[in-house]
Amino acid sequence: MSIPATFRAFRIHHSDGHRAGIEAVSLDDLSPGEVVVRAEWSSVNYKDALAGTGEGKILRRFPLVGGIDVAGHVVASTDPRFREGDPVLCTGSGLSETRDGGYSEYVRLQADWTIPLPAGLGLREAMVLGTAGFTAGLSLLRMEQNGQVPAMGPVVVTGATGGVSMLAIDILSRAGYEAHAITGKFEHLDFLTRLGARQVINRKDMHWGPRPLETALWAGAIDSVGGDTLAGLTRVIHPYGNIASCGLAGGHALNTTVMPFIIRGVSVLGIASAGTARAQREQVWERLAGPWKPAHLDAICTRETTLDELPQVFPTMLAGGSFGRTVVRL
Ligand SMILES: NC(=O)c1ccc[n+]([C@@H]2O[C@H](COP(=O)([O-])OP(=O)(O)OC[C@H]3O[C@@H](n4cnc5c(N)ncnc54)[C@H](OP(=O)(O)O)[C@@H]3O)[C@@H](O)[C@H]2O)c1
Repeated sequence: MSIPATFRAFRIHHSDGHRAGIEAVSLDDLSPGEVVVRAEWSSVNYKDALAGTGEGKILRRFPLVGGIDVAGHVVASTDPRFREGDPVLCTGSGLSETRDGGYSEYVRLQADWTIPLPAGLGLREAMVLGTAGFTAGLSLLRMEQNGQVPAMGPVVVTGATGGVSMLAIDILSRAGYEAHAITGKFEHLDFLTRLGARQVINRKDMHWGPRPLETALWAGAIDSVGGDTLAGLTRVIHPYGNIASCGLAGGHALNTTVMPFIIRGVSVLGIASAGTARAQREQVWERLAGPWKPAHLDAICTRETTLDELPQVFPTMLAGGSFGRTVVRL
């Protein structure tokens, strides 16, 4: 398949301030990589919104094409593991951080970070999941590696209407857990229940209590909010439960005590999706395409957008107004 001399990409600059938008780029403009992919789908994550608006320091060099996720078909590869026509995906792995990302009609990927699309997933489905789904899956994988099992009791998900969290609720239900949800958008109670949340708690009604150890409420947690929410969670998790700390939508500070750790054996597990090693990455994608495949991907994908519309999508997300996942049709 021939690759056009130039194609469209959403590129981010930082000279004389932040500037981002659609440009015509060529393959040679992109970071080097063994695998050239005709990108078909990408997605919008909180990190993309930070990078695309310049509100957060995500890019470590400039200019770069934005987009931390991409899925498409291989058009050329110098690595024998990939052949023309293979469906592949890549999430994190330096995209839109140190390398040109997925908001581009063609991308150049490093073979070691390129994942063959697992059987059971379509390209668009892979991007409804994207970094958000991968992060939710990695959270549960790490919790189970540290002893979490459904019989221990319910697992709570915070920031429930966000992309990571909606997928986490669905994944937990698929994996046999009783999922509970805490949300600031209680009007979406019915939707969260449909995803599998057996209890939905209004963030406003959640009082964590001031003591280092409060009455234990949940066997584990997947937390995309951070700040006071994460601190509160440490005080209410059952003995030997796990908290997967994967986000900071509500703040990055953590003010707690060691009591939950040394009295209840609670673990806070760090979830860093972008740099996850390949073996673990493959395990997560196998589960996401198989036993943990969310049952409500169509409902969770609330918006399909284009490269041109990205500047309108980002600010809503940063203002906490997101609801579900947005995929980008390339
Ligand atoms: N560790 C990793 O590798 C990794 C990967 C992906 C994402 N993340 C992080 O995970 C978080 C969620 O990402 P996302 O893509 O799912 O974003 P998102 O779709 O914007 O979801 C964030 C959700 O957090 C809740 N929220 C927002 N502002 C809040 C506040 N001030 N206090 C409490 N809750 C608040 C909202 O849910 P409710 O209104 O329902 O409460 C919102 O929908 C972000 O911090 C992101 O950076 C980390």
